[in-house]
Amino acid sequence: MKRFDLTGKVAIVTGGNGGIGLGMAEGLAEAGANIVIAARNQEKSAKALEQVKRYGTEVLALSCDVAEPDSVKTMVQSVIEQFGSINILVNNAGINIRKPPEDLTFEEWRKVVSINLDSAFLCSQACYTHMKAAGGGKILNNGSMLSLFGSSWGAPYSASKGGMVQLTKSLAAAWAKDNIQVNCFLPGFIETPLTESARTQIQGVDEKVTNKTMAKRWGQAEDMKGIAIFLASSASDFITATAIPVDGGFSAQLY
Ligand SMILES: NC(=O)c1ccc[n+]([C@@H]2O[C@H](COP(=O)([O-])OP(=O)(O)OC[C@H]3O[C@@H](n4cnc5c(N)ncnc54)[C@H](OP(=O)(O)O)[C@@H]3O)[C@@H](O)[C@H]2O)c1
Repeated sequence: MKRFDLTGKVAIVTGGNGGIGLGMAEGLAEAGANIVIAARNQEKSAKALEQVKRYGTEVLALSCDVAEPDSVKTMVQSVIEQFGSINILVNNAGINIRKPPEDLTFEEWRKVVSINLDSAFLCSQACYTHMKAAGGGKILNNGSMLSLFGSSWGAPYSASKGGMVQLTKSLAAAWAKDNIQVNCFLPGFIETPLTESARTQIQGVDEKVTNKTMAKRWGQAEDMKGIAIFLASSASDFITATAIPVDGGFSAQLY
């Protein structure tokens, strides 16, 4: 449908070489967008590139550390050299270090906050002038259930993901004049390499998540395709500064 058509659009997906990012990159490509996978592990990126190419659009894999300002600038410059414009940015890259706050080093705190939150600021700022020049754009920020809830083992993670929601509102307010919509999506519990370790590290998490999720299952990367297409397309032109759960009902049920 035209409203969801992304033909000819250029989308950067940070951390687009696996898990949720790859699912979203595939969704955007399915809707017609050319895709830039911006991540660190080039072996993973090469495999992801082949996977996304199956949708028939142009796909580029660029090495980028999203927590490093120079690396982000170089990546964005390469996208402009290759495609000439940027229409969609998915700030998806993220990590977690699961420890109680009393055991965290400051370096660990900084690492999580910097990869999860600083990155969204850096990438959004680097893309801004190009989106403005293109007459508008779409920024999609990856939050979490820990944008809403606290966690005894995830202080920097939940701080960074709460920050994503507030950053979303502020960027949306600043750039509405340039026809740039900025939204956050809050994934529930999705089966990816990131959560694989949580299932073994945190006792009973598997069962708790399944029980509290109304859909009675963990999400799959495939489940993230719809929100990617919606928030990147003209279907969401009057939607900005929101935080939308994509969680099978997890956040709306007490037990
Ligand atoms: N899975 C869930 O249930 C869940 C729920 C809520 C939110 N999220 C969020 O979803 C996002 C993706 O996580 P995931 O679950 O899909 O796990 P994942 O497969 O581990 O994906 C994380 C991605 O981030 C990239 N990345 C990490 N540090 C980076 C850096 N410094 N520079 C560039 N790329 C970097 C990784 O690429 P490289 O390996 O190449 O570095 C990888 O592609 C994260 O922001 C996470 O917080 C996940």
